[in-house]
Amino acid sequence: MKIPPRAPERGVRIAGTGSYAPPRLLTNDDLAQMVNTSDEWIQQRTGIKRRHICDPNQESTITMAQAAIEQAMEMGDIDPGTIDLVMLGTTTPEMACPSTAARLAARIGATPAGAFDLTAACCGFLYAMNMADSIIRAGRANRIAVIGADAMSTVMDYEDRTCSILFGDAAGAAILEPDEDPSRGSVYQTMHADGEGWASLYIPRQEAQLVEGDDPDLVKMGCLRMNGREVYKFAVTRFQTAIKDALEATELAPEDVGTYICHQSNARIIESAIEKLGLPPERVLINIDEYGNTAAGSVGLCLDELLRGNRIDAGKPTLMVAFGGGMTWSSSVWCH
Ligand code: UT7
Repeated sequence: MKIPPRAPERGVRIAGTGSYAPPRLLTNDDLAQMVNTSDEWIQQRTGIKRRHICDPNQESTITMAQAAIEQAMEMGDIDPGTIDLVMLGTTTPEMACPSTAARLAARIGATPAGAFDLTAACCGFLYAMNMADSIIRAGRANRIAVIGADAMSTVMDYEDRTCSILFGDAAGAAILEPDEDPSRGSVYQTMHADGEGWASLYIPRQEAQLVEGDDPDLVKMGCLRMNGREVYKFAVTRFQTAIKDALEATELAPEDVGTYICHQSNARIIESAIEKLGLPPERVLINIDEYGNTAAGSVGLCLDELLRGNRIDAGKPTLMVAFGGGMTWSSSVWCH
């Protein structure tokens, strides 16, 4: 038996990024026509002004994911035939089987790259980035396409004001590849989950799955249910702990980090982390006003916006952090 030699120690670089948000807008005033809410309440409590949502006749998770990854391939001048693996973080796959990633790989011409969907709710993109980094470092693959895409409008009950005001649709993507410098890429990463808290954020398929307090006559099957206060409490704590742990483990002070990329769930959650941890506010992107919470799309969308705008200080590490249904939470300190 011959065991092929392992790849020499290596790092990982981002070869290209891309993103997509549908042109169709859903404003706070639009929502106020549908449920008992107001632009003022939504902006005050979440920081959201509008969100982009799919045109159901033309757009969905796969079309958004494709647009984002094609942009990333264009930025990096990547031949799709050289992609070894396609990892798609999503809560809204086209179908349970086949994976949306397999169809996406075929659409972009990456066959026979391995392809799978990854369900970690809003952590989908960051989990995938972390896993892709590890796989490349281990020498098991060279180019990996990482995408986070969610068409949250397809799982939204627009009569439920708790959820409908928060979520929008988008995709973000990155192509990762090896770099000879091992200090590049994810130098610290975490992926966590605590399934005990699952009922705070879930999409029931049938009545038997409903949790206490959910009225079967009111709940729409296949639509997101959220206990906003519970998620908020969880998020504030986990978010801050994840950032603190990452800074401590890498012996970085808040100002040593060039860019903070936080999952955009609610501007108040991010602002509270800025205040409590003393993060330099100008280095923390908040774009939730424009997109709302785009679940697995959020971190990749931010990464692309910053890279394209030359707003990432490549001389300093970037700290990415996310949390979501599961409950899940994840972080990564990335050196460019
Ligand atoms: O990616 C992870 C997914 N989710 C999250 O991160 C969500 C985390 N949670 C949140 O962002 C917030 O909890 C929400 C934005 C969902 C809600 O904000 P809140 O400040 O926690 O509001 P609340 O649930 O404590 O409700 C305060 C009041 C209540 O009225 P009373 O009881 O004080 O009279 C609600 O009935 O606001 C009322 N309310 C609303 N009013 C207008 C709740 N939702 C709305 C609404 N419009 N959409």
